[in-house]
Amino acid sequence: MKKDFLSVSDFSPQEIEQVIEQAMIFKEGDSPHLLSGRILALLFEKPSLRTRVSFEIAMQQLGGYAIYLSPQEVGLGKRESVPDVAKVLSRYVDCVTARTFSHETLISLAKHSQVPVINALSDLEHPCQALSDLLTIYEKKGRLAGLTMAFVGDGNNVANSLLLATSLTGMSFHIASPSGYQINQEILGQGRKFASSSRSVIKLFSSPEEAVNSADIVYTDVWASMGQDAEADKRRLAFHDYKVDERLLSFAKQDVLFMHPLPAHHGEEISPGLLDDPRSVVFDQAENRLHLQKALLAKILLQTESMGNR
Ligand code: CP
Ligand code: NVA
Repeated sequence: MKKDFLSVSDFSPQEIEQVIEQAMIFKEGDSPHLLSGRILALLFEKPSLRTRVSFEIAMQQLGGYAIYLSPQEVGLGKRESVPDVAKVLSRYVDCVTARTFSHETLISLAKHSQVPVINALSDLEHPCQALSDLLTIYEKKGRLAGLTMAFVGDGNNVANSLLLATSLTGMSFHIASPSGYQINQEILGQGRKFASSSRSVIKLFSSPEEAVNSADIVYTDVWASMGQDAEADKRRLAFHDYKVDERLLSFAKQDVLFMHPLPAHHGEEISPGLLDDPRSVVFDQAENRLHLQKALLAKILLQTESMGNR
């Protein structure tokens, strides 16, 4: 049995803790060549800076190798069917990290692939981002359980993964979104079950000030995600009152962390200069993608191997 990672909920709270601990070990010390000779395919339908670079370097530092496949080269689902691409890549590489428009594409890739598939962002989730963010929060606050994250903005892929990541690890999750842009109901249902086990709470708000009140972390993301460019003007109007700025942060705890997955639109979802505010940890978030993904790749590839898959 190979181990895919398509959703944060593919991991138990114990597995999340284990990956964060391993990431901290990698971050502190040398990188043993645990993945010597292993090859990762990076199959991307959308642009990327952080995800592509951090996965490539992660493989290199662990002694492996990564091959980037751009949208134009592969023509996933156009030049060649998704199942055929999955079957072919399985004959060459040890793992596929894929960034797709539709989450269904990822599910199909995983179904037809003989090797593990990792979600590098889909329209439903961005689980590598969420786990890396837990690492950043743990480093800064020394704990996860008992903290409150307030997400302000679109109930999008990043929000979905953060809702699952927080509720699995005992953090409370507040989200303020305008009408029509609320969090996915299925994810919410799943998160509520995790929250009842981890004794945390999930609360939905329309007011950003109420959501942010006494929060330990304030998180936001772009108003129009990749692939939603045609909706950008409409979204700018809908999200007008959901900008994160110095005034909104003053409702949170004094030692609040400000987080954003990047890329950011300065002056749109955040006030200009907010990324460089002392409360901002956005560049730590970007760095931690590398350390967390090294731990993730080691777990997924070595676990799959010890199960005798390859
Ligand atoms: N945060 C993130 O996933 O960035 P990229 O889109 O640049 O990979
Ligand atoms: N929600 C954003 C995240 C980018 C990292 C998008 O999907 O474009």
